[in-house]
Amino acid sequence: MRRIIFNQKGGVGKSSITVNLAAISAAKGYKTLVIDLDVQGNSSAYLGVDINHPNDKTIAELLNQTASWFAMSTPARDYPQATAYENLFIIPSSPKLDKLEVELERRYKIYKLREVLDALADDFDRIYIDTPPNLNFYTKSGLIAANKLLIPFDCDNFSQQALIKVMDNLAELRDDHNRDLVLEGIIVNMFNAQAKFPRQIIEEIKMLGFPILEPYLPQSIKMKESHYQQCPMLHFDPKHKLTQQFIALYDGLEATVALENK
Ligand SMILES: Nc1ncnc2c1ncn2[C@@H]1O[C@H](COP(=O)(O)OP(=O)(O)OP(=O)(O)O)[C@@H](O)[C@H]1O
Ligand SMILES: [Mg+2]
Repeated sequence: MRRIIFNQKGGVGKSSITVNLAAISAAKGYKTLVIDLDVQGNSSAYLGVDINHPNDKTIAELLNQTASWFAMSTPARDYPQATAYENLFIIPSSPKLDKLEVELERRYKIYKLREVLDALADDFDRIYIDTPPNLNFYTKSGLIAANKLLIPFDCDNFSQQALIKVMDNLAELRDDHNRDLVLEGIIVNMFNAQAKFPRQIIEEIKMLGFPILEPYLPQSIKMKESHYQQCPMLHFDPKHKLTQQFIALYDGLEATVALENK
């Protein structure tokens, strides 16, 4: 199962949600891989990768592999790097992604990630894909390679407008390239239960027909601390409300997957 986390709006929690759901997945015993498609490298850094000194096993090298009649290229299964957490692996981002984008596009590499993930299908139970805050080549590659889509939503007015735009763009991409892509739902993040406005905004997007997942993820400074410590919430503060909500959200998603596979 390949789950992509995307919203064109920046700062809504894509990287935080990717890493925290992946960490829970790994702790539940699933061999889990995080793919970081964002040149900012936030999910890589969150999982302890030194993104300013990348090795040669990043997503940039993997996507940029050139075919040769004579030499074997490095197999995809050599790329996932272990993290400090059991069962949790990452193919990190690289500063090279920016420069490489035009080149990969020119070489029609938009399906390369899907091929790579097909090659890794037997090695990982769950794959989580983090994306940049725009619908660029890497995001499109991820959306073509994934089969489940989660959209984080941070309860503000701009977010609401962004959501409508995202859904239009995704509908077209799904239709053209990947009919298997299923929208699992919208994750409400940085929810403030005390304020009236977030509830109002959520009601409005429900009325528009968007599938809103529960529970909502509360706003907490612990998230920033957990980034700073490069330690996912499950390990940083297992009893915290935010962690518990992450687990409940994860369990809900997996329960649906289990039903589908029956
Ligand atoms: N539930 C939360 N409570 C408090 N802070 C949060 C929460 N979720 C995310 N944040 C903080 O908000 C900021 C943006 O989060 P994150 O980097 O996960 O978003 P993003 O969508 O991946 O951003 P970008 O679009 O830049 O990739 C970070 O500083 C993160 O620590
Ligand atoms: Mg991010």
